[in-house]
Order: sequence, then C-alpha cells, then structure tokens
Amino acid sequence: MELEQALRERFSCRRFLDQPVALEQVRTLAALAQRLPSWGNTQPSKLYAVGGEKARAVRENLVTAMQSGSPQAPDIAMPASFEGALMDRYRDLGRALFKELGIGREDHNQRAAHYANNFDAFGAPCLLYVTVPKGQTSYVVLDAGAYVTGLCLAAASLGLATCILAALARFPEEVRKVVPIPPQEAILIGVALGYADPEAPANRFRSERLPLEQVLTSFDL
Ligand SMILES: Cc1cc2nc3c(=O)[nH]c(=O)nc-3n(C[C@H](O)[C@H](O)[C@H](O)COP(=O)(O)O)c2cc1C
Repeated sequence: MELEQALRERFSCRRFLDQPVALEQVRTLAALAQRLPSWGNTQPSKLYAVGGEKARAVRENLVTAMQSGSPQAPDIAMPASFEGALMDRYRDLGRALFKELGIGREDHNQRAAHYANNFDAFGAPCLLYVTVPKGQTSYVVLDAGAYVTGLCLAAASLGLATCILAALARFPEEVRKVVPIPPQEAILIGVALGYADPEAPANRFRSERLPLEQVLTSFDL
C-alpha cells in the first residue's frame, strides 16, 4: 500500500478479530517505524510487543484495575481534560462514536462496558508498548509520537489495524507485572494491534477532520 493510501485508510480500530499477529509482521512494521526522524537521531523510543497469553494477561490486569477503582498512575502525566475548542472536539468525538454504536446518553451500562473495552484493548491479540527514557527533555515525546505514527501507518500498509490507547498506559505497574519494562523507562502509550473485525459497528466509525483553512496558514506561496 502506498503512503497516501495508508494515511487515508488508517483509522482507530475498536474491535479486533481473535487472529494472532505474526512476529515477522511486527518486526517489519517496527523496522519501518525506525525510519522516522528523531532529534539528533537520538532514537529515544523502545518498543515492547506482547502477544498470546501475555497480551491476554495484561488486558485482564488492566480491566481489573480499572473496575476495582485502583488509582491511575501513568508514568507520564495524562491530561485530565482539555480547554476550549479542544474540549469541544473531544466531546464531539465521544458523541459521534456513541451515536455510531447506538449507545444513548443515559445508557450508563453500555457506556461503562465501552470504557472497559478500552482497557481490554478492544480484544487486540497484540499490544505494542512504546517507552521513552525517564529524565530527558520533553522533546523525546515528539520523537516518540512520530515513531508511534510510523508504527500505525506501517501497520496499515501491511493490512493490520491499530488503535493508539492511553487506556493501556494508565496502570503501568499492571503492565510491568507481565512485561519486564525497566523502571528507567516511562511507558508513554500502548497501541492495540491486530486484524480489524469487519462486522463490528465500532469499525464503521470514521472521525472527522477540521477544514484545511482552520489548520493551514500560508504565506508567499
Ligand atoms: C495519544 C492518544 C491516545 C488515545 N487514546 C485512546 C483511548 O484511550 N481510547 C480510544 O478509543 N481511542 C484513543 N485514541 C484514538 C483517538 O481517539 C483517535 O486517534 C482520534 O479520534 C482520531 O481518529 P482516527 O484515529 O480513527 O483517525 C488515542 C489517540 C492518541 C493519539
């Protein structure tokens, strides 16, 4: 798949088939993502790919931690909310997604079930954890963001689906119970990886983008 097609077709997959991802596929997409730039070629990102029983154990730990009300303690502070227009767009996304899923405003059970599904990585058979070294400039997160984008686009080009999930990084100690990620590394984000369930209503959903005029200002072009 060409890059333009991968950019247009990638979407956040929110229901995966129970079909494992081959190590060779993960190695290919990890090697492609490594082509993304970093400040001074410092390459701060590390990748932990978790499949099989271990992925199931991480997902189970995370769902249990969330449902038992354990305090969330991400290695890198996460936004509690957003301000102004960003908050409006964040709410718009939630409304549009729940509408597609047919989950009403007052349907608290279904909403809670969907929230729990986030921690279950929407059933993904493979979890990708991206870490950055602790105690470095916050620009390492910019480099890691590029790396994560590379992973998702490379996955799309290989016919795999992804969902970047903050939910996977909210209880890092639950992850470390299964995956030996050293304490000197901060778990930045998790990415659910697998094959999209084509029948799932959640996978019909496509998020919108702002009109280009609201994003791009050009001069002298
Ligand atoms: C840093 C980050 C964290 C995210 N965390 C979640 C999450 O916890 N749950 C979820 O359903 N989607 C999550 N997403 C996916 C976004 O909602 C999604 O990328 C956005 O709505 C744009 O939609 P698209 O990816 O389908 O183009 C996250 C995306 C990013 C970049």
